[in-house]
Amino acid sequence: MNQIDLKGRVAIVTGGAAGIGLACARRFLESGAQVSLWDLSRESLDQAKAELQPLGPVDTRQVDVADAQNVRQAAGAVAAQFGRIDALVNSAGVSGRFVATADYPLEDWQRQLDVNLSGTFYCCQAVLAPMLERGYGRIVNVSSMAGKEGNPFAVAYSSAKAGVIGMTKSLGKELAPAGILVNCVTPTIFNTPMHQRTRVNMAPEQLAALKAKIPLGRIGEPHEAAALIAWLCSEDCSFSTGAVFDLSGGRATY
Ligand SMILES: NC(=O)c1ccc[n+]([C@@H]2O[C@H](COP(=O)([O-])OP(=O)(O)OC[C@H]3O[C@@H](n4cnc5c(N)ncnc54)[C@H](O)[C@@H]3O)[C@@H](O)[C@H]2O)c1
Repeated sequence: MNQIDLKGRVAIVTGGAAGIGLACARRFLESGAQVSLWDLSRESLDQAKAELQPLGPVDTRQVDVADAQNVRQAAGAVAAQFGRIDALVNSAGVSGRFVATADYPLEDWQRQLDVNLSGTFYCCQAVLAPMLERGYGRIVNVSSMAGKEGNPFAVAYSSAKAGVIGMTKSLGKELAPAGILVNCVTPTIFNTPMHQRTRVNMAPEQLAALKAKIPLGRIGEPHEAAALIAWLCSEDCSFSTGAVFDLSGGRATY
């Protein structure tokens, strides 16, 4: 494993109790950072903390990223406790059911946008004051290939993730002069609890067809996403902002 230097840094990871977020937390701790994990359930946060604590200090907070007030309070508490916020990874996300747009339930549309798009915005906004104060910050938003390509029967997820790409580009340009670099990653299928839940409703030939689109011939592992995200959250990432980094095993063509 290459050493990424995050010594002395304080990072918030949303959706940090599972999947890509949990892998990021592990890599951050191995790189010397202190980590605050935000997630929905206390139980899954406790499990994550027990797993990660041997690697370093882990703060956990029960936060619904779709609740702006909840997010603001949590960010204020982290800044007060650690005296700084250096990095934010927005990994909290929900993937909806696959439903034809003509029948797409409005409440599913709303929840998808609330968590995947507004939640990302609320978290970005909430960490800005401490980052602006120190003139330093790294933000990584976890979008999706769905936001680039548009997945059929997943209009809300695709729209929200495309919105995250637009938000990243906007914030990247706006915050560059302030020393805050904002980038996003666009995973294809990764082996996480989210994928395992989706997979249950997939025919084996559907999964095979998805894998066939990936030139590297397999799905991604969470630690592979974490390696790129940890680098994007380090000082070594110094001349990239507002950018979209591929995590698709060669599937993406742009
Ligand atoms: N796994 C994939 O194949 C894949 C592909 C493309 C993009 N992504 C994106 O990567 C990110 C991480 O996905 P994952 O596969 O690790 O998912 P996951 O379901 O395994 O983990 C996501 C975590 O986010 C938490 N979460 C959900 N809603 C939340 C909320 N409102 N507030 C706080 N926490 C919340 C969940 O409790 C869970 O712990 C998501 O944004 C997802 O859309 C995943």
